Amino acid sequence: MRFVIASTGASGSIYLQKLLDALAAQAHEIHLVLSSYASQVIREEIGELHKPEGIHTHSERSMNAPFASGSTSFDAMVVVPCSMGTLGRIASGTSDSLIIRAADVFLKEKRPLILVARETPWNLIHARNVVQVMEAGATFLPAMPSFYAHPKTIGDLADSVVWRILDQLGIPAPNACRWQESPKETSSE
Ligand SMILES: Cc1cc2nc3c(=O)[nH]c(=O)nc-3n(C[C@H](O)[C@H](O)[C@H](O)COP(=O)(O)O)c2cc1C
Repeated sequence: MRFVIASTGASGSIYLQKLLDALAAQAHEIHLVLSSYASQVIREEIGELHKPEGIHTHSERSMNAPFASGSTSFDAMVVVPCSMGTLGRIASGTSDSLIIRAADVFLKEKRPLILVARETPWNLIHARNVVQVMEAGATFLPAMPSFYAHPKTIGDLADSVVWRILDQLGIPAPNACRWQESPKETSSE
């Protein structure tokens, strides 16, 4: 399958790294775009992003990417993590960078767009933007880890979010803890 993975300047670079690793392990075609603030947060939180071999990277300032147009088919786009700034720009349809244009294209083509947003607390503008993108067809998947799998490490906690993203993409997540189905405790570190 073909995926666009975009990352913006919200906290949670670990989710991006884990999602890339999971998709690359299953040999999917991955197109990656980072906003400049995403690069800053990655440096702050995980030091360096490990880009799996074969991944296609694109500049957020160039529209010369196949997914900047609805004429090329992709299976889904994930923005992970998604900042409130990017959420707002998607909600208002500015299309002023490759990430915002691509999100606009996925919505207009009625293709899956998954926004893994992170901020707390919210103001009313955030809440209204969430409603706006959901009404336009996006899946809003806040980066909210769960605890019922008894996570032992930060990696375990992050997995609980990444599993939900993989579920939305229809990608197998064999190690995922599922309530009343997977009693084993997980440890990814
Ligand atoms: C270390 C760091 C952490 C941040 N965490 C968040 C966050 O969790 N959520 C958020 O909406 N913005 C966060 N920001 C602010 C965004 O990076 C900022 O609003 C930026 O303009 C977003 O631009 P982008 O959406 O183009 O990446 C953070 C910034 C830094 C430097």
